[in-house]
Amino acid sequence: MSRPYVIDEMISAKAIAARIEELAKEISQEYADTEQVVVIGLLRGSFVFIADLARELDLPVEVDFMEVSSYGNEMVSSREVRILKDLRGQIEGRDVLVVEDIVDTGYTLSHVISLLKSRKPKRLKTIALLDKPSRREVDFKADYIGFEIPDEFVVGYGIDYAQRNRNLGYIGKVRFPE
Ligand code: IMP
Repeated sequence: MSRPYVIDEMISAKAIAARIEELAKEISQEYADTEQVVVIGLLRGSFVFIADLARELDLPVEVDFMEVSSYGNEMVSSREVRILKDLRGQIEGRDVLVVEDIVDTGYTLSHVISLLKSRKPKRLKTIALLDKPSRREVDFKADYIGFEIPDEFVVGYGIDYAQRNRNLGYIGKVRFPE
């Protein structure tokens, strides 16, 4: 990635914080009866989101991480999703919330969810900060969504472009000036 680009703000840090507060309230109500909820972040894009969300949850929380890699481009037909790092803990019989940065084609989360379901959690829900419904290739909808966005490439708030811009406090749209 060598072409210079600019980043136009799409969702401010303030708007993200306000939306997370709302979502955390809904989730805290839904999981109110839990003994402990295992909040699972999908690395690396969700690391900022999970940090902010977990601190807003009014619930006993355990945090775990998983890293998966999607084969894009050259393996478009199979869209295989590989586990690079699995959970440290067990989820059988437990309440689980999977935290993702963006749902794009839907392959990553639908694969991760069917894998985690096979481990027989008691309750399994998903939250994605961003959703690009116009890009969907498999039928998948997260239970909680921060913001629906158009088909734009975004960075910031944990999300990268070629490993850059994860540390921006807001969500920005990548643009290549003529
Ligand atoms: P899906 O399997 O197509 O839903 O892939 C979702 C993953 O693609 C996300 O977790 C991101 O890592 C990546 N992704 C999708 N859209 C963007 C984007 O606009 N910016 C950066 N990464 C993206």
